[in-house]
Amino acid sequence: MLILCIESSCDETAAAVVRDGREMLSNVVASQVDVHARYGGVVPELASRKHVEAISVVIKAALEEADVALEQIEGIGVTRGPGLVGALLVGLSTAKAMAWGLEVPLVGVHHIEGHILAPFLERAPAFPFLALAVSGGHSHLYRVDGIGQYRTLGRTLDDAAGEAYDKVAKLLGLGYPGGALIDRLAGQGDPKAINFPRPMLHRPDFDFSFSGIKTAVMQYVHKSSRPIDETHIADISASFQASMVEVLTTKALRAAAAEGLERIVVAGGVACNSGLRRQFSQLAAKHGLEVFFPSPALCGDNAAMLGVPADYYLQKGLHADGKMNAVSSWPLDTVTV
Ligand code: KG4
Ligand code: ZN
Repeated sequence: MLILCIESSCDETAAAVVRDGREMLSNVVASQVDVHARYGGVVPELASRKHVEAISVVIKAALEEADVALEQIEGIGVTRGPGLVGALLVGLSTAKAMAWGLEVPLVGVHHIEGHILAPFLERAPAFPFLALAVSGGHSHLYRVDGIGQYRTLGRTLDDAAGEAYDKVAKLLGLGYPGGALIDRLAGQGDPKAINFPRPMLHRPDFDFSFSGIKTAVMQYVHKSSRPIDETHIADISASFQASMVEVLTTKALRAAAAEGLERIVVAGGVACNSGLRRQFSQLAAKHGLEVFFPSPALCGDNAAMLGVPADYYLQKGLHADGKMNAVSSWPLDTVTV
């Protein structure tokens, strides 16, 4: 089945063509980062307007790159939520109109479901597995028993991991989005230079809290007598990253052990992080676990990742109708088959 996938939940307009839920024929992403950077974060109204401008261009490019004609498309998968409602509605209305015009079935997909199933486009993990979804809006640990079978084991009680990265980057004057910038600088600094807290590390549950690390960085910067110059920023970045990576990996490994899971999928924008990838790989080798990281283009927001669940649901005959609406918040546990 040839599926056209459309994603517009935040600040990336994306379209992809995926065959049989496994083969990515194209994956086109138009980023709005430059538009939002000067405001230090995503401006919802601007995001919606930019999606309207980009969506047909991106869909056309995805079809061209896949060398697929519109008439060959057999189904459409679109992000239904969670995300910015105005942004989601652009993708959703486009998907509905196309499905109606082409007379093909349509399905609405959970954005995080796409993220954690992205590895199926490359090296598919066997079920069950633990999924760590770390993005600008999520820091969740899930037990995944199959497509549509998710149970939340832990979640952030305040900031998401990506949000903490972005806020710390802003504080250090690095720009938006900050995750990749901090990651790069962390490579040049000393991770032991500053001992930032590891919140909730010793609690037996699998929840996270990242706002405390961010506040600790802020207080450190305000109080420090050492000039906040390039080498100091590199040390702060490396130390902050060490704290984030230790908390994320420790809690994920603990959750995997408690659930008897031998495979871990790390997904979402923060899964691009080099420190996280390195630490997970080392720990996995030590504990005899298998870790799956999507390649960077499939970690950040994209449409191809939607093709995995979209194909599964469409094959099962689960179709949406024209009444499907966008949802800003949508717990993954409530997605059922
Ligand atoms: O999944 P994503 O593209 O969008 C959302 O669904 O939120 O994730 C975006 C987040 C941003 O907060 C960004 O700063 C973070 O992922 N990010 C990173 C890295 N690359 C992107 N965080 C840490 N290290 C990175 N290399
Ligand atoms: Zn995302």
